[in-house]
Amino acid sequence: MDIFASVLLSSSLLLFYFVFSDAADSITQSQPLRDIENTTLVSKDGGFVLGFFRPGNSNNRYLGIWYSNIPVKTVVWVANRRNPITDSSGVLKVNSSGSLVLLGQNSTFAWSANQTNEARNPRVQLLDSGNLVLREENEDDYLWQSFDYPSDTWLAGMKLGWDFRIGLDRRLTAWKSPDDPSPGELSWGIELHNYPEIVMKKGSKKVFRSGPWNGNFFSGMPELHAIPLYNFTFVSNKDEVYFTFHMIQNSVITRAVLNQSRYERYMWAKEQNEWSMFLNLPKDKCDDYNLCGPYGNCIMGEAPVCQCVEGFKAKSLETWNPEEWYKGCERSTQLSCQDKDKIEFVPFSGLKMPDTTHSLLNESMSLNECWVKCLNNCTCMAYSNSDTRNGGRGCAMWFEDLIDIRQMAANKQDANSQDIYIRMPASGQVLKNKQKRKVIVIVVVAIAVLFGVLLIPYCIWKRKSLRDNMENNEMLDQNIELQSEDLEVPFFSLATIVIATNNFSSDNKLGEGGFGLVYKGILIDGHEIAVKRLSRSSIQGLNEFKNEVMLIAKLQHRNLVRLLGYCIEGEEIMLIYEYMPNGSLDSFIFDKTRANILGWSMRFNIICGIARGLLYLHEDSRLRIIHRDLKASNVLLDNNMSPKISDFGMARIFGGDQTEGNTDRVVGTYGYMAPEYAIDGLFSVKSDVYSFGILLLEILSGKKNRRSFHPSQGLNLVAHAWNLWKDGKPLELIDTCLEDSCILLEFVRCLRISFLCLQQHHEDRPNMSSVVMMLHGESSLPEPKEPTSLVGKKLSSPSKNKSLSTNEVTITLLQAR
Ligand SMILES: *[C@@H]1O[C@H](CO)[C@@H](O)[C@H](O)[C@H]1NC(C)=O
Ligand SMILES: *[C@@H]1O[C@H](CO)[C@@H](O)[C@H](O)[C@H]1NC(C)=O
Ligand SMILES: *[C@@H]1O[C@H](CO)[C@@H](O)[C@H](O)[C@H]1NC(C)=O
Ligand SMILES: *[C@@H]1O[C@H](CO)[C@@H](O)[C@H](O)[C@H]1NC(C)=O
Ligand SMILES: *[C@@H]1O[C@H](CO)[C@@H](O)[C@H](O)[C@H]1NC(C)=O
Ligand SMILES: *[C@@H]1O[C@H](CO)[C@@H](O)[C@H](O)[C@H]1NC(C)=O
Ligand SMILES: *[C@@H]1O[C@H](CO)[C@@H](O)[C@H](O)[C@H]1NC(C)=O
Ligand SMILES: *[C@@H]1O[C@H](CO)[C@@H](O)[C@H](O)[C@H]1NC(C)=O
Repeated sequence: MDIFASVLLSSSLLLFYFVFSDAADSITQSQPLRDIENTTLVSKDGGFVLGFFRPGNSNNRYLGIWYSNIPVKTVVWVANRRNPITDSSGVLKVNSSGSLVLLGQNSTFAWSANQTNEARNPRVQLLDSGNLVLREENEDDYLWQSFDYPSDTWLAGMKLGWDFRIGLDRRLTAWKSPDDPSPGELSWGIELHNYPEIVMKKGSKKVFRSGPWNGNFFSGMPELHAIPLYNFTFVSNKDEVYFTFHMIQNSVITRAVLNQSRYERYMWAKEQNEWSMFLNLPKDKCDDYNLCGPYGNCIMGEAPVCQCVEGFKAKSLETWNPEEWYKGCERSTQLSCQDKDKIEFVPFSGLKMPDTTHSLLNESMSLNECWVKCLNNCTCMAYSNSDTRNGGRGCAMWFEDLIDIRQMAANKQDANSQDIYIRMPASGQVLKNKQKRKVIVIVVVAIAVLFGVLLIPYCIWKRKSLRDNMENNEMLDQNIELQSEDLEVPFFSLATIVIATNNFSSDNKLGEGGFGLVYKGILIDGHEIAVKRLSRSSIQGLNEFKNEVMLIAKLQHRNLVRLLGYCIEGEEIMLIYEYMPNGSLDSFIFDKTRANILGWSMRFNIICGIARGLLYLHEDSRLRIIHRDLKASNVLLDNNMSPKISDFGMARIFGGDQTEGNTDRVVGTYGYMAPEYAIDGLFSVKSDVYSFGILLLEILSGKKNRRSFHPSQGLNLVAHAWNLWKDGKPLELIDTCLEDSCILLEFVRCLRISFLCLQQHHEDRPNMSSVVMMLHGESSLPEPKEPTSLVGKKLSSPSKNKSLSTNEVTITLLQAR
């Protein structure tokens, strides 16, 4: 009895093992996979399953592959898309003549692999990549693989495109509906023009074009390239044309899928337990194929979105409404084809390359040869480098009208931008504009050179005298004790950040600083964060960077923005901060409506808060940080309108030169920079004090310190305020929204402190601890000397040529014009 029971038990265990064990990743000729037995294949690493399933509300059964670790059943491949099996009779096997077949009711064929050869000793295996392959037992070559016959999902390692040797066109085809995997209308694949591109089609109608590959990305979908989780490969030769991607981050599970209306990329969000979409195409109206017709340029944000390329005018000018957009644009001046002297090719930047249906590609031609060839053929309307890497090479030419052009977001890949040269009549409007622009550039350059010449002798003299003064300045000794214990700042994975910021979507962009773009993000747990995306090239050493981040994260003060963590992965370097819902101070004080929110007591609190934050940075923290870019946009406001200084420590992170009092790389913002810093690159706590003085003046007056503050007199804010002060009319400076709430005594005290901070000689300026005491009336106020400001003065450009390369400076100089 006992023996019988145990035999029964062990045999049922054995049965159990055979039926439910998911261990096998392959089958051979003698082991078919039967739906009725619930058998499946599981890839070695347990990522994918091959088995029978029932989609959505359908009663039909299909053989397919899905993720095994993901609780939301996500099918990535279906074998018998067109021939469902209506019951559980399905069997996958290698038949006696060595073909992989799926048999349904009454052993009819439901599907068979389109294999190159019959197998003698076959093995069918599900690989870790999700690829189902058929091969000879001890050989590596595949007789057939599911990756060559995609359904609606594109997995890493899968090639999208053509293999001419075996007559393959691998393209994604959407399911008909969530219940029906049979091929729907929408497809996504490579169009074999001379200059190939990916096209999304509905039936035979184009819906969206990727634009051609330019060596770095597809000109019409740079966002794909910007995703830091993959790398992409595009291959085009006589045997094959394909596009594929590989994961750089293996911890991340992602897929691309074509649903019934669009192409989408998802990432598995573990914490949320769901797929999180971070990219979809078409993404906006301008992605709609040929919305604006020939020579129409679709520009998001313009009204109407359809504009004409420069030098063209709308064909139906009076009635250019959405129904007429497709008619496009025509030349303002007609082309004379034969007379080549009357032809010019005008370069355009930042455009999505036009439809390449009528294009020619020659990868060995230079841009100049391209121009000659295009000039000599009247139907050639445009040309460009086909590959923008390393300064550009190859030649692409477009014949007939240029269609499906759009303006791409300006901030992306400027360095790799693919300029397109469009055929124009030489004497047209466009040319005149171009020349005008050229003249302006020349004048600007000439002025810059002149300034440079004048400044050099002045600077040499000035630097010497200043450096002598600074020799024993306190800020020069920066002995940081590096204690390696408890230097823990959380690391955020790139995937987390990509999900949180919706793949750095432009909707999430909060602003742009000298050090990179800032995005808003929402973590999976609902916490809001601000992500500063730095550029890798500006960082010198990763270890130094990490050390700096750790140190700076230790600075905690209620008037400093908190650093929550960082992310370094691949080319990406990011700092993660707490998110400040009220944004930055400048968005209040310089805005007519929002300025009313900030009454006097709030402003005074803000002033005191900034002062305390700065004092902490200068004197109370163990690091002694000189901010070097204090300004209204770097002061953020929390829920209670309490100020928090941001971007502190950035100079350290980027520096290498931060322990010295002199730098070749002037960071900071024109208008806030102390003269000795802007001109000689000498910085100290006192240059921060100067910036604080400007900021103070701006908070009091609600006006920016920029050139021509007073139109009639050409005065800047500092000079204007000083004049009022001297004339005994300081109250005229009060921001009009403050008039009722203002406590005059405090106002005048603040104004006076501001002048003290703005004094020309840095040794005359108070340090921040005195400023804090003065603000609270705990210290007597000396009489200020005349303040100084560079804004609007002749010596207004930062002197060193090197410093001109600092974006922030240049940008701000331009804005100030
Ligand atoms: C197969 O699985 C289904 C549902 O999970 C179940 O109802 C059925 O009894 C199983 N069949 C066998 C033979 O185990
Ligand atoms: C095996 O399958 C192939 C492909 O469908 C078919 O041509 C062949 O006749 C089958 N062989 C047998 C013995 O059924
Ligand atoms: C399968 O065979 C049975 C009996 O021969 C027949 O009644 C049935 O219609 C067949 N089913 C299919 C799908 O051919
Ligand atoms: C099967 O392969 C042949 C050549 O390899 C090809 O011509 C044919 O189109 C393929 N059939 C399918 C359904 O893919
Ligand atoms: C892409 O990344 C994979 C994995 O890191 C690597 O093996 C491959 O060489 C890379 N390919 C390219 C083109 O960079
Ligand atoms: C495709 O997916 C998007 C996002 O999940 C969804 O909004 C859209 O309705 C889907 N399209 C169809 C036809 O299901
Ligand atoms: C490409 O250009 C080169 C140089 O002008 C020329 O020798 C070659 O024949 C061209 N190739 C094709 C396919 O036109
Ligand atoms: C111009 O180019 C088109 C397209 O390649 C070609 O068909 C035509 O023959 C060329 N014309 C001349 C004059 O070379």
